[in-house]
Amino acid sequence: MESKRDLLSIDDFSPDEFKKIIDWAISAKQDDGLFEEFMPLTGLTIGSIYEKPSTRTRVSFEVGIDKLGGNPLTLLKGDIQLGKSESIEDTAAVLSRYLGAITYRCFGHEDVEKLANGSSVPVINALSDKHHPCQAAADIMTIAENFNELSEIKVAWVGDGNNVLHDLMLGAAALGMEIHYAVPKGFEPDENIVSRANDIAKNTGGSVKMTHDPIEAVKDANVVYTDVFISMGEEHLKDKIEAFEGFQVNEELVANADSEYIFMHCLPAHRGEEVTDGVIDSKNSVVFDQAENRMWAQMSLMTFLIHPVAWEAFAELN
Ligand code: CP
Ligand code: NVA
Repeated sequence: MESKRDLLSIDDFSPDEFKKIIDWAISAKQDDGLFEEFMPLTGLTIGSIYEKPSTRTRVSFEVGIDKLGGNPLTLLKGDIQLGKSESIEDTAAVLSRYLGAITYRCFGHEDVEKLANGSSVPVINALSDKHHPCQAAADIMTIAENFNELSEIKVAWVGDGNNVLHDLMLGAAALGMEIHYAVPKGFEPDENIVSRANDIAKNTGGSVKMTHDPIEAVKDANVVYTDVFISMGEEHLKDKIEAFEGFQVNEELVANADSEYIFMHCLPAHRGEEVTDGVIDSKNSVVFDQAENRMWAQMSLMTFLIHPVAWEAFAELN
């Protein structure tokens, strides 16, 4: 089997690689006309398997792959043999004979690990119950577009200790930021991921802090981030919502942030639940930049994983 690299969580990149992947994405976004000639995925088909719905991930991958000269192939789980009459590992081995890389949106994180183990081509996690690294890459890119000195940035997370927080925490720590998250008791993030983010932060000058008080997290923050309280796959946990009283990002809460703060949300948003219209539609909101940046960040990380020589050549020019 050829050596290949996967992206299952942001921790699969070193902090230095991650920073360069973000810089590459920002340069690519600014370079009008670049993708008329830079086509590192020419001749490759990139497959994407979805077990859950998606708007941003699916469209940003399809369009990004097309811009890089590749062919996107989207496979909905209900239409393929995966999980019904074929194991994940066998599916991975078969798909590796056709595809240049595979992206996978799944329920249990162990499933994307199995796909990566069985595949001889790069596997990219397009969201699991534990990680959402493509989102974090776009989010850190968006923060970098708005602020010069990332080491001086405080990111406040208010809400559930979920998949999006896990990779945001790893990414913020990798770039030396402070991340202060406020979660209700019983909805803390995975302790192994927090511990890993702390280890990364020790080397980069970043920090990771937890509170159960949203005001404490948001105090003087440059970035205020929230996500849905009930993630895909948790629809049976409707009562969970009761624990999130006081965790809505509203005008009163963001009044505690720095006056130049930006509001972030991975989307889709449940307006009136975790965030008010007044905040998400305010001049501080960058949620649609985040959505666009999914495409640029994924173009960078796909090229990095699939065609590192072309990725490096572009990086050297910029
Ligand atoms: N943020 C995000 O992953 O959106 P989709 O579920 O629409 O892909
Ligand atoms: N935490 C959310 C993110 C959706 C993009 C979920 O997993 O459903």
